[in-house]
Amino acid sequence: MTQVFNFSAGPAVLPKEVLQQAAAEMLDWHGSGMSVMEMSHRGPEFISIYEQAEADLRELLAVPANYRILFMQGGGLGQNAIVPLNLLGRKQQPATIDFVQTGSWSSKSIKEAKRYAQVNVAASGEAGGFTGVPPQGEWKLSPDAAYLHVCTNETIDGVEFNFAPEAGEVPVVADMSSHILSRAVDVSKYGVIFAGAQKNIGPAGLTLVIVRDDLLDSALPICPGVFNWRAVADADSMLNTPPTYAIYIAGLVFAHLKRLGGVEAMERINIEKARLLYAALDADDFYQNRVAPSARSRMNVPFYLRDESLNDKFLAGAKARGLLQLKGHKSVGGMRASIYNAMPIEGVQALVDYLNEFAGR
Ligand SMILES: Cc1ncc(COP(=O)(O)O)c(C=O)c1O
Repeated sequence: MTQVFNFSAGPAVLPKEVLQQAAAEMLDWHGSGMSVMEMSHRGPEFISIYEQAEADLRELLAVPANYRILFMQGGGLGQNAIVPLNLLGRKQQPATIDFVQTGSWSSKSIKEAKRYAQVNVAASGEAGGFTGVPPQGEWKLSPDAAYLHVCTNETIDGVEFNFAPEAGEVPVVADMSSHILSRAVDVSKYGVIFAGAQKNIGPAGLTLVIVRDDLLDSALPICPGVFNWRAVADADSMLNTPPTYAIYIAGLVFAHLKRLGGVEAMERINIEKARLLYAALDADDFYQNRVAPSARSRMNVPFYLRDESLNDKFLAGAKARGLLQLKGHKSVGGMRASIYNAMPIEGVQALVDYLNEFAGR
C-alpha cells in the first residue's frame, strides 16, 4: 500500500494500529464467531466493549465521578439543538444563552440556539475575521444565562482556546469536537462537553457527551425522548440502538491512547507538530496563517498561498507526494492541514518539506 498522510478535517485519519486490529477482529471478535457489527447491543460481548470504552475514556480525561459519559448520535450539529432542549428548563422561558463567537462552528450553534432561546453574543471575533479568541475580560456575560456556549477549537477558522472559560455559577458548555483528547482538560470547569467522534475519537456516527449530574434534569418538555440526557444516562446510552461499531472503534482508539501515555503524552507531541508546521508557514510571506499566535489551533491549521493562482498546482503537487485532503473549507478557501492525534510527526515533517520545496526555499 502506498504511504499517504491524510490531513482531512474529518472524518479524519485514525491510528494505523487501530485499523489493523479492527481488520484482524472483523470476522471473529475474540472467538465469539461474530463481527462486532453483528452483535446485539444488549449481549455480554458488546456490553463488555462498551464498558471498557467508557472506563478508558473516563481515565484518559480524568472525568470526575459526578459526570456521566453519554454515547449518542446526531453529531456536533445535533448537540446544537440537544443542548438547549436539555438545559433551558433550568430557567423561566424565554431563557437566555450566552455565546462567545469565535468562528464558523460557534456561529452555527448561535443560529440553532435562536430557535429555542434568546441569544446573547457575549463576545465575538467576527469583526476581526475570526482570527482570535476575544479576551475573557471583555466578555459581556448575562448574569442569569441558562448556560454559556463556547467552541474551544474552531475547525474551519483554526482558532483554539488556550484557557478554560469561566462563567461563575453559569454552566459552561463546550463543543470540543475537533480537539478533544489532544490536550489535558479540567473537565470540572465545564457543565457539558460534547464532541462528534470523526476527528480525534473514531468513525462518524458517534457523538460523545460528558455532562455533570446536576444538569441531567433540566430538559424542556418538547425535548425528544431519545435525546433526553437523563433518559440516555439512565439507560447507559442504550435507550435505543447505539452506533455499536463506532463505539467499538472509539474504544480501540482510547486503549491505543492509553498505551501511548494518555492525553498528556499526546499534548506534548501535538505541541511539537504544531510548532513545526507554523514555523514553516511563518518562515517568509509565501504562506500565511492569519490567526493570532496565542489562539492558533494545534489541530487545524488553515493557511493561504500569497499567490492564490498557485492553489491548484500546490494541491496537485501535494497529492503526488501522498499529502492528501489539504484543500481549505469551501467557506474560507485556501488550504487547511488537520493534524489530529493520529497524524504522526513524520506526516507533518513531510508536509513541511513540501511547503519548503514548493516555496523554493
Ligand atoms: C467544532 C465542530 N463542531 C461541530 C461540528 C459538526 O459536527 P457534525 O458534522 O458531527 O454534526 C464540526 C464538524 O466538523 C466541528 O468541527
